[in-house]
Amino acid sequence: KRKVIIDTDPGIDDALAIIAALKHPDLEVLGLTSVAGNKGIQFTTDNAARVLTYFDSGVKVYRGATNDYLSLKAGAGERADEAGFVHGATGLGSVDLPINSDMYADQNAIDFILETIQANPGEVDIIALGPVTNLALCVKKDLETMKQVRSIHSMGGGVHRGNRSPVAEFNYWFDPTAVDLVFTELGPHVPIWMIGLDVTHQGIIDMNDLTFMKMAGGELGAMLYEMMQFYVNTYWHQNGYMGAVIHDLMAMIGYIYPDMYSEIYHANLRCVSDSELAKGQCIVDLHDQFKWEKNAYVPMKADIAFYKEQTMAILFGEEAA
Ligand code: BDR
Ligand code: CA
Repeated sequence: KRKVIIDTDPGIDDALAIIAALKHPDLEVLGLTSVAGNKGIQFTTDNAARVLTYFDSGVKVYRGATNDYLSLKAGAGERADEAGFVHGATGLGSVDLPINSDMYADQNAIDFILETIQANPGEVDIIALGPVTNLALCVKKDLETMKQVRSIHSMGGGVHRGNRSPVAEFNYWFDPTAVDLVFTELGPHVPIWMIGLDVTHQGIIDMNDLTFMKMAGGELGAMLYEMMQFYVNTYWHQNGYMGAVIHDLMAMIGYIYPDMYSEIYHANLRCVSDSELAKGQCIVDLHDQFKWEKNAYVPMKADIAFYKEQTMAILFGEEAA
């Protein structure tokens, strides 16, 4: 089994990605680490616990960064809600899932990540579905241990598009300093995948897919259909899509089945943090013009039919049978 840590800020699309990982027979989810992003840290930690409770999987959530990297260094308090308009008041749309307090771990996210890697050198993959603040803190605390990570798949950024600003994707906009630090310091040593908006926006989960979830997916499908209602509404009003882009789910499916991607570049990636105008923009040197050290794997194309088939099979295989 592949050992994974999921670093996350649930978030509706995070929830779907976590569920896919918990259900996949080849993955061993060692723990979830929460981060402030879509919502403040209390919401994202609680929402992770809600999803874990639903599956009663024995996996725990480790509480992580309460603010972006520079704010934490400056001693700032907790960052509040950022994306309630996308994910709803609680962060999981209108779904109200119960929490079993056994799902909360006592250890903090940074120590959990570092100790887990030390115990399993070269064997742990990290799937980062939110701002990469926790990873930046780990890199700063113990770079040598982080070099023992097997791979990182980070949903965020984009080569040619943004969603939080014309040039910046939300996760990378939230903490651009952390992004630049992680790719620059760790990317030369560990394969880090940037799963950006260029690929995620190719995979619109449309009303046909959602109806299928509800009709063939049993209790889980019905719950996800309800959870998606808020999100679909947002994509319609913001993007004019008749469906939704479930970014974090695509990052998870692409991690499980990397053949889903094509046009994969190994390139230098930098993230802009010192400009209000371009904050969070990724500069990905696809054609090696700067001749800087390569620190990122960046896919530009995804096989969408495959993505949807795998999503349905992983989430509802048993229920559908
Ligand atoms: C990313 O931002 C968040 O709102 C989503 O959970 C996803 O991780 C997409 O830009
Ligand atoms: Ca997310």
